[in-house]
Amino acid sequence: MTTYKLALIPGDGIGVDVTDAAMQVMGAAASRFGFALESENFPWSCAYYLEHGTMMPEDGIETLRGFDAIYLGAVGWPATVPDSVSLHGLLLPIRKAFNQYANIRPHRLLPGVEGPLKAEGFDILCIRENTEGEYSGAGGRVHEGKDNEVAVETSVFTRAGVERILRFGFEQARARRGHLTSVTKSNAQKYSMVFWNEVTRELAAEYPDVTVSHMHIDAMAAKMVMAPQDLDVVVASNLFGDILTDLGAAIQGGLGFAASANINPDRSAPSMFEPVHGSAPDIAGKNIANPIAAIWSGAQMLEHLGEAEASAAVLSAIEAATAKGIGIRPGLNTTDEITAAVIAALEA
Ligand code: IPM
Ligand code: MN
Repeated sequence: MTTYKLALIPGDGIGVDVTDAAMQVMGAAASRFGFALESENFPWSCAYYLEHGTMMPEDGIETLRGFDAIYLGAVGWPATVPDSVSLHGLLLPIRKAFNQYANIRPHRLLPGVEGPLKAEGFDILCIRENTEGEYSGAGGRVHEGKDNEVAVETSVFTRAGVERILRFGFEQARARRGHLTSVTKSNAQKYSMVFWNEVTRELAAEYPDVTVSHMHIDAMAAKMVMAPQDLDVVVASNLFGDILTDLGAAIQGGLGFAASANINPDRSAPSMFEPVHGSAPDIAGKNIANPIAAIWSGAQMLEHLGEAEASAAVLSAIEAATAKGIGIRPGLNTTDEITAAVIAALEA
């Protein structure tokens, strides 16, 4: 029997609640489809920071490298640790160190879920660049606190980085409905985003079966609200993709439904799976967080591990639960009830 080694980082707040829920479902999928999951829990979080002064041990990255996949709940507890510290100490270094350059975020309405839009039948796959761009971390501050203070934060776009994310997007589009929308702001950002467009055009020549649209981020925000059904694969830079995927979460009914996979496509290091939502301190530990985004992220993990059938079954089980009205609105069901409904559908 194949055994997959998972590193679990539940993190903070509802990250703990939803990781537990997702792992119950993953365990049920493993028994049904005949593979084993062996998981090790890492308590790296803001609470860990308060005790140790770091979000993870110095050899944290090297420890994670030995696993087949990483599952992360959520990071952040701003009442005790500033987000700029907690995220730069755990989540963002993992994405970069393991070259998890493709952040895959699906946006569609699950059966029974009523989104805020009149639009229905949209199915968007957002591919967010996940290692460079606006999140490069290049910058600094001088004259802190003075009138002449300056803060600089530079976006970094490399040919290798832009090419690989776009190529990944083209491959996804080819496997789906054959349309790719590249999102930039090349009318205002005349170096990086014009460069991005050039690389898109170069690659488009290699994918004559994929139709390409170029959109500016502002127009794209409007499009996702007005006509999301026209979109297939959307490729965007790190920050643009971050913003668009919260919008994507909103149109699919809320952050409780938005799954995400941080993928290292060449498999030279583990990939990481985490729901888009954050730690939601206000509802943490109350058994009311919606675990569907987390379970869906788990399905993405199973697919990446090569368990396509189990992954599809977990997605169908989520859909069977929401089709019955379970978890379709905040406050309707507890975390445990939603998890149990998904497991029941998976085992049926
Ligand atoms: C996300 C989150 C993170 C990001 C934050 C927590 C740093 O918003 O995964 O979308 O911006 O990447
Ligand atoms: Mn985000």
